[in-house]
Amino acid sequence: MVDTQTELTDPTDQDPTDLTDLTRRLVHAGTASDDQIQALVDAAGLDAVARALGEEICFRCPEPVNPMPIDVALDVGHRDQERRLVLHVVRDRPVRLREDRPGTIWSQVGIGVTDLVRRLYGRGDRRMTGDFRNTFLPSPDDPESLYSMFSELSTLLSSAAQATGTVMAGCAPRCPDLGELSLRYGSDKWASFHWYTPHYERHFASLRDEPVRILEIGIGGYEDDPGGSSLKMWKRFFHRGEIFGLDLYDKSELNETRLTALTGDQNAPEELIAIAEEHGPFDVVIDDGSHMNEHVHTSFRTLFSYVRAGGLYVIEDLQTAYFPGFGGSSGDTAEPHTSIGLVKRLLDDLHHREYEQRSDTEPSLTQRTVVGVHMYHNIVFVEKGVNGEDGLPAWMDASAWDALGAK
Ligand SMILES: C[S@@+](CC[C@H](N)C(=O)[O-])C[C@H]1O[C@@H](n2cnc3c(N)ncnc32)[C@H](O)[C@@H]1O
Repeated sequence: MVDTQTELTDPTDQDPTDLTDLTRRLVHAGTASDDQIQALVDAAGLDAVARALGEEICFRCPEPVNPMPIDVALDVGHRDQERRLVLHVVRDRPVRLREDRPGTIWSQVGIGVTDLVRRLYGRGDRRMTGDFRNTFLPSPDDPESLYSMFSELSTLLSSAAQATGTVMAGCAPRCPDLGELSLRYGSDKWASFHWYTPHYERHFASLRDEPVRILEIGIGGYEDDPGGSSLKMWKRFFHRGEIFGLDLYDKSELNETRLTALTGDQNAPEELIAIAEEHGPFDVVIDDGSHMNEHVHTSFRTLFSYVRAGGLYVIEDLQTAYFPGFGGSSGDTAEPHTSIGLVKRLLDDLHHREYEQRSDTEPSLTQRTVVGVHMYHNIVFVEKGVNGEDGLPAWMDASAWDALGAK
């Protein structure tokens, strides 16, 4: 049997400058314990490990798609140290580690060395989020330079997102399917200000091969661009699916097989009902529309009944629950009228059998049919089904247990 500890850190045959040897040890470390990974980094030195990991990431990165050259900083932490790798990312060139003085850093990702080793050499199905922090446009030295390039800002932002997405794809054991599609079609659901696609992959896995009906509120786009990036991404992802988009503005020029752009107001229940009666029921509804808290409530209240059992209702950009300009709360607690207030209510509804209700009130639709509330940073997946599991009978409350314990 291999002694993993010796295998990982034995200094006798270890040359920190020998990348092959170090990489072999890192591969072993991918499935070892945190202590073993840390011991390996202590022995080999963070510089050498960061360098080896950086080379691996460059190799794994897909072809960059960003037209504007972007330097992405990858800060690798270990105990109280940090090493910065700068990856230069631009279309038509392989990603490379910068040896020279980097340009302005437009995107920064920080990750612990243990998590990075696990990402690269750990199990292929590990969770692809929740182990890094990131910042876009981290306070440039000279903010004036940013203002002066305002006209290029949207290209800069999308290039920074694409470059970061490329680097994060290089930090993955497998190609993150939806992340790649998101970059390809220009959706902002991954590697921009949002990191949603791994959550979508997790929750959509069982639907992927089904002839699903998907409705996404909010199609996106600008004056000279009809948008539809995410609709195209869903059409590609759900290869048997029918995709509907809903927007305030007419975007019917996007219509093609399996993709229909509908016009309507997500805050007008009668318009939503007409659409749902004609095109529903849906397996999935995604709210990525105005993100006004009132609108989020109206759409959910109206459309949740048109989600099929076993389906999902997804709400993106829950951060507006804390934005007064969007009808959100101003403090650090999201109030009931906000999107996060709605989610909190659903948690209570999921547990409605656990609290006392007036015997003459029928359980509401959400009390009867919400069977899961999966909450992540700024996004929630509400799962629909039959909420029929019984709780403890009322007589078996804490006092009953106390009485039993006393016997
Ligand atoms: C964030 S963009 C959608 C991005 C798109 N879902 C994507 O992922 O590519 C928001 C869209 O919501 C639309 N919108 C704003 N208010 C709306 C409303 N009341 N009803 C329907 N759509 C609305 C806007 O016109 C805009 O196209």
